[in-house]
Amino acid sequence: MAYGEKPKVKWIREEELRTERFLMSDNRYNREPAKRKKQVSRKELVLFTRIKAVFCMFLFAVAVVVCVKVVQGVTQSDAITTAPPTPDAVGNKGDAAQAGVPADPPKETQTTTQPPEDSDSSKEEQPDKKDTDSGVTKNGYKIEVKDGITYVDGIVIANKSYPLPKDYNPGMNEDAQAAFDKLAADAYNDGIYLFICSGYRSYDMQTELYNGYVADWGKKKADTFSARPGYSEHQTGYAMDINDASDAFIGTPEANWLEKHCTDYGFIIRYKKDKESITGYKYEPWHLRYLGVKLAKKVEKSGLCLEEYFGIDSAYAEDTGKTKN
Ligand code: DAL
Ligand code: ZN
Repeated sequence: MAYGEKPKVKWIREEELRTERFLMSDNRYNREPAKRKKQVSRKELVLFTRIKAVFCMFLFAVAVVVCVKVVQGVTQSDAITTAPPTPDAVGNKGDAAQAGVPADPPKETQTTTQPPEDSDSSKEEQPDKKDTDSGVTKNGYKIEVKDGITYVDGIVIANKSYPLPKDYNPGMNEDAQAAFDKLAADAYNDGIYLFICSGYRSYDMQTELYNGYVADWGKKKADTFSARPGYSEHQTGYAMDINDASDAFIGTPEANWLEKHCTDYGFIIRYKKDKESITGYKYEPWHLRYLGVKLAKKVEKSGLCLEEYFGIDSAYAEDTGKTKN
């Protein structure tokens, strides 16, 4: 731009004039001519103004970038705080080592004498896919679905209404395993020998197990004592079968000890007598579910099964023709 020519951008021109006026009217500047080493030329003034304008634009750009980062940070921390809570007692610990899983899955109801029914439906069933959702249960507990996993009041749920994703492989939960180890040690001191005969089970392992039962007993019967793949609490890593997953366990000193003491260690007997129509499974005094001591005691004291306590259903959508509540 030639000397004296008007800059195209109006505000730069105004800034130039302001700077010029300031320099020319500065009293100190005029009062102390000795300190005035050199007269500022118009060219220098224009250059100075340009540099100032570029610097201001740079600062503005930095401010914009900082604001964007701050907004992104707030959004991410929101996402973290709204993620399902994982109470310390029942929180997932990721890939805890698989524990208590025998090479061959046990027969869970070997003493059942009913004849086989329809065995033509042993096909693998894909659980419903519902990745995110939230609301409240019938009893007002917060229910959330995150990455296809359902949490009620922060507790991972797996039953006939709430399946787990096929690729959900948390392994045996460390807290549940540690609680069982303590329970078993104390039982041993009372002369009771307890061990896990089936702990964490993957989707694939449950598929093998369930299909075997369907082949032997028919789908309708199998559904009363074995979860379909994706619907087993064993896949959560918080469930375990103790000693003998069969009716032969009922009424044994071991079963009685478990029933009396398991909540002291954070477990409940998950499938209670007289709750078959609610849990969807027959009485299984060998099947423990870890909830942490506080919740286990509350549930036990209520006399309710977990479904009743939380106010949730347990029924395959296919069987009821309903969708999840
Ligand atoms: N026996 C329980 C219901 C299961 O298969 O997970
Ligand atoms: Zn079980």
